[in-house]
Amino acid sequence: MNLYGKTIVITGSSSGIGAETARLLRQRGAHVIGVDRNDPMITLDGFVKADLSEQAAIDDAVRQLPERIDGLANIAGVPGTAPVDLVARVNYLGLRHLTARLLDRMPAGASVVNVASILGYEWPQRLDAHKALATTASFEAGLAWLAKHPVAQETCYQYFKEALIVWTFAQSQPWFLQRGVRMNCVAPGPVFTPILGDFVTMLGQERVEKDAHRMKRPALADEIAPAVAFLCSDDARWVSGINLPVDGGLASTYI
Ligand SMILES: NC(=O)c1ccc[n+]([C@@H]2O[C@H](COP(=O)([O-])OP(=O)(O)OC[C@H]3O[C@@H](n4cnc5c(N)ncnc54)[C@H](O)[C@@H]3O)[C@@H](O)[C@H]2O)c1
Repeated sequence: MNLYGKTIVITGSSSGIGAETARLLRQRGAHVIGVDRNDPMITLDGFVKADLSEQAAIDDAVRQLPERIDGLANIAGVPGTAPVDLVARVNYLGLRHLTARLLDRMPAGASVVNVASILGYEWPQRLDAHKALATTASFEAGLAWLAKHPVAQETCYQYFKEALIVWTFAQSQPWFLQRGVRMNCVAPGPVFTPILGDFVTMLGQERVEKDAHRMKRPALADEIAPAVAFLCSDDARWVSGINLPVDGGLASTYI
């Protein structure tokens, strides 16, 4: 799998899965531009500091990004211990806005990879709501829809990861047919990164212990990065509109 000559933008590149993905993609020959609210801790080919919860900040970041983009890995995210509005903005609305703004810079063969979560696996239970939200045409329209359809704090992380999976399914095929741009999700199970503790707080000890018996251990961030790299590469040129679990088999136990 080589990524020579590809320019790939990675959000969330200053920590965890995003940083490991940036490191791996550079090793495979890609030119990697990071976007994060925090400064990078590793060498990148370019970096734009931006708050991806704000539409204006995203628009400003877009102005600083390259004119040709072969890949976009949307990895930045906040846990469900953050306020609902912030989770909605970073994990869904901002991700969508950045992707839509960069689409015209992506040639045929380009790839978008959205990091969802194993916690998005119940998307079929709320499909109608997620499809309705997916049809909102802009960041502002999404906010207005959410004002009319409030999301509970306790389940907001799951809700917006589900919504991300449904939006990816709904939007990927039109973009693939019309532009030859692929879009997919990767759904990690628990991963040892700075926000793992927030997930334990969010889910509660009982649920965490239940899951702990079903899996070997949480993943390391460098066990998620290769799946993102594969989906960015031309080896995945016929893979579009999927949600790829990378969870050490945990999701397979939810039967
Ligand atoms: N760690 C896990 O167990 C786990 C499991 C499943 C999915 N995920 C998802 O993986 C992705 C990466 O998470 P991680 O575990 O590497 O966490 P992390 O906290 O290590 O990294 C998240 C990165 O996103 C950036 N970010 C957050 N809000 C931002 C904002 N408003 N603007 C710009 N950058 C912002 C942070 O600065 C950080 O660098 C997230 O989307 C998360 O939901 C994580």
